[in-house]
Amino acid sequence: MTNVTSIRFGETDIEAIAGQEGRVAILVDTEGKLDPAGRRVNRLTRGTLARMVDSSRFEKLGQGEVISLGFPAGLSAEALDIVKLDRRPSQADARKAGAALGRLRGEYDMLVLTGSTRRAADMAFGIAMRDYRFNAHKTKADPAKGEVTLMASKPEDVAAAAAPLMAIADGAHMTRDLVNEPANILTTTEFADRLAEMSSLGLKVDVLEEDALEELGMRTLLSVGQGSDSPSKVVVMEWMGGKKGDAPLALLGKGVVFDTGGISLKPAAGMEDMTMDMGGAGTVAGTMRALALRKAKANVVGIVGLVENMPSGNATRPGDVVRSMKGDTVEIINTDAEGRLVLCDILWYAQDKYEPAGMIDLATLTGAIIIGLGHENAGVFSNNDTFCDAFLKAATTEGEGAWRMPLGKAYDDMLKSRIADMKNIGGRPAGSITAAQFLQRFVKDDVPWIHLDIAGVASVKSDTRLAPKGATGWGVAALNRLVMDLYETG
Ligand code: BES
Ligand code: MN
Ligand code: ZN
Repeated sequence: MTNVTSIRFGETDIEAIAGQEGRVAILVDTEGKLDPAGRRVNRLTRGTLARMVDSSRFEKLGQGEVISLGFPAGLSAEALDIVKLDRRPSQADARKAGAALGRLRGEYDMLVLTGSTRRAADMAFGIAMRDYRFNAHKTKADPAKGEVTLMASKPEDVAAAAAPLMAIADGAHMTRDLVNEPANILTTTEFADRLAEMSSLGLKVDVLEEDALEELGMRTLLSVGQGSDSPSKVVVMEWMGGKKGDAPLALLGKGVVFDTGGISLKPAAGMEDMTMDMGGAGTVAGTMRALALRKAKANVVGIVGLVENMPSGNATRPGDVVRSMKGDTVEIINTDAEGRLVLCDILWYAQDKYEPAGMIDLATLTGAIIIGLGHENAGVFSNNDTFCDAFLKAATTEGEGAWRMPLGKAYDDMLKSRIADMKNIGGRPAGSITAAQFLQRFVKDDVPWIHLDIAGVASVKSDTRLAPKGATGWGVAALNRLVMDLYETG
């Protein structure tokens, strides 16, 4: 849950190995040459380590992979984890190694001897990201209590390099907690309260209630939430760590705390997954948290639209026409295409209030993007190649899958309505693209904009590189990286 693993960094203390309880992890490079820690372990275990390293099992092991020995002779630990990792591994391999250890940690204390490894900080990041459980509602779960000690030759350097990475892991854990939380707990009010708590980190958090949204003219957003007993809210989080007066980056998130489909009701099977339909808002929140924790020297504003899409006597009907904050009218053909109705008003609000240098919206917007890209890549849509390439590069660096999709007039034409300025759906073909086209109608031409359809990546049914199954926290690291690359240079 919320707090990242407590990781301490210490001087390499070879004597500590024998008495360490829980787990001991040591690194062995591809050549199998043992470093001082390895030689110590080998002596203590009477040659077991050398035999392991000479074996074909070790040879077949990939970079960043682990072999574990249970109750090793000569050690107090319950397990010895041998990690194959070169002295100068790639960032991805070092994180992978960390993740493998993070997965194994369980409730144990863990001692990791990184020795001279330059990438101890990346290993720490891998451990922190992967060592996550959502136990909030398991009454019999063991309280996680283990501590990880990472021993390196220059612990202060590693600690300094790891600090901003721990901020990212912390942010990603927050995103996961929000996305995993069921909708009876994470109501719009509870969501807003959790965001408001982040003011303790130096974020300026404002919660706009329904009367304020009405005043602003956010009728499309309000039309989504009007069938629910939970009030619709927009939460604005400002982090102004950059130069005074510099236009901010705006991050916008779809926060549908539960999506029944509304009157265009979804089928029962799998509907429980729609607790994750606030994944865009969750990612924005986690990113803002990471930026605040590491005191980013950039101006970034996060805006999330929190609503619940429910059927009821006063829910929006198919065929209803509503007016957006921009002034354009929308014929709601399908009340299940609600995310775009939330986003279009906060996109307009962001431009109206902040004149942002760029805008990125995140949304679990369409099932169609899962058909197209599966769970490997988020769909990326943009009106600006430079901005888009910068994001794709950031995502690649962080190992977060992202794939650009097209936009174009032919798709936009599919939104034409007989009675209003547009319909809220474009029909079955190209469902993710017409959804993006809908959003683009609310983006001014001169504002660089990226839309991320994260329906396939926000929460998944099997373990991923850095996360156990369930909410992934996808996007926090990439967005943080983009902020570093574009807004913190100089
Ligand atoms: N929240 C869903 C999209 C979604 C589907 C997210 C599966 C995660 C997993 C969205 O609001 C939705 O219902 N979209 C419809 C749009 C359609 C009515 C045009 C869809 O994708 O079926
Ligand atoms: Mn829907
Ligand atoms: Zn939805």
